[in-house]
Parts: sequence; structure tokens; C-alpha cells
Amino acid sequence: MRIPIIAGNWKMNKTPSEAKALIEELKPLVKDAEATVVVCVPAVDIAVAAQAAEGSNIHVGAQNVHFKESGAFTGELSAAMLKEAGAEYVIIGHSERRTYFGETDETVNQRVLAAVNAGLIPIICVGERREQREAGYTNALVTYQTMIALTGLTDDQIRNVVIAYEPVWAIGTGLTATDEQANETIGVIRKAIENRYGKNVAADVRIQYGGSMNPKNVKGLMAQKEIDGGLIGGASLKAPDFSAVVNYQN
Ligand code: 13P
Repeated sequence: MRIPIIAGNWKMNKTPSEAKALIEELKPLVKDAEATVVVCVPAVDIAVAAQAAEGSNIHVGAQNVHFKESGAFTGELSAAMLKEAGAEYVIIGHSERRTYFGETDETVNQRVLAAVNAGLIPIICVGERREQREAGYTNALVTYQTMIALTGLTDDQIRNVVIAYEPVWAIGTGLTATDEQANETIGVIRKAIENRYGKNVAADVRIQYGGSMNPKNVKGLMAQKEIDGGLIGGASLKAPDFSAVVNYQN
């Protein structure tokens, strides 16, 4: 049985003091969650967030990681740095990084390998743009993105990664994939993993939906059999909204 995982992606929001305040507000609201709860915060917030979350069921994640262990990469952060600061998870290959920062499937794969080797759990984002869906490429594209991202991992390492299916046209737009659309595409991703790595591995991988997920639509999405959680942007910035998503079963 896969344990659901609800992760907030704060994107470029919240200073360290604001991060501490939001986590303090969240702690009592999410303490009985049946899902794994993660907040992926700006890098400078990680240490403060981890300290605030200590002893609670809130896990802290980063939003990107460099693929090298160390060296002359001005402005970048290694997996070991993020881990020591208190991150347990890291978002990799978010569409905003692919669109604005030249992220490719190959660099996503390198970052995934670096994260896993350092003991971080990657949340690997895949998803199609609107014109790609309209042209009928969604299944081929998410399959390709997923297969490249997982290249070089062992079966056991793959069991432990999280994949987030985020249709780009649904991010920050208020448009959500229908429950059935999200379930179908996540099923395609799971099938691709099964075809290459076998049924047992595919059955263990947690695959989230992301894109305008909120307290209103979470229940319907989470009722779908392939959907194991959510990666939440806007609705993760306010404690009442994020906790309502986390506690979708109530
Ligand atoms: P929104 O929930 O704001 O649409 O963002 C989704 C997202 O990009 C999460 O990574």
C-alpha cells in the first residue's frame, strides 16, 4: 500500500521568519494527517523550517539541487548542503525550472542521481504543455520524461522516489486536470515504470498530481486509484488551505 504524500511547493515565497511562522501555524493543524506531509521551501528557509518542524510530522524539502558534489558552480547548492541544512526531500525538474532556467530531461536525471546518492528523496516533476496535450503527445512525453529521469537508479532507489504529474497548463491558472484526466496520465506514468522495471517497483512509486490543487478539488482527485498525493503551489502558502488539503480524508 502506498502512503499518500501531500507536499507544498512554496516557490519563491516566504522569508525565513515567515517560514517559521507558517510552520508553527501548520503543526497543530496537520498533526493527525494520514498522509506524509512535506513543505518544499526556499533554500534559505530550510534550516529555520527544519528547526521549527522538529518533533512534528512535517518534513522539509528543497526546490532544486545541483548535480555536482562540490566545485566552481557559483550560486548553486549541493545535495549534501541541503541535507545538512535539514532537507529530506527535493523537487527536481519543476516546469518553472524547465521553462525559465533551461532545465532539460538530462539535467533532471543528473540532479535525481545526486539527490538519491546523498540520501534525499526526489520529487520529480513531469507534465505536458497545453499544445502538447492538444497535439496528442501527453502520454509519449510523460513516459519519456519519466524514463530519462529514472535512468541509472536501482530498482530499490526507484521505489523510493516521488513523481509529480503536473500538467503545465494547470499550474497557477486555476485550471485543474479533471480527476479522470489526472488519473489516466498518472496511470500512463506507472505503466511506463512497470514496463521497464516491473510490476512490483511500479506498485511502490508514489505519483502525485499537481496543478491548482486546493481544498475544494482534493477529495475528488485523491479518490482516483492512481493518484497518491499532491504537489501544491498557491494553496500551500496559507495554513488553513494547506491543512485542509492535507486532511482531505476528514
Ligand atoms: P499551483 O498549485 O499554484 O497551481 O502550483 C502547482 C505547482 O506548480 C506545484 O509545484
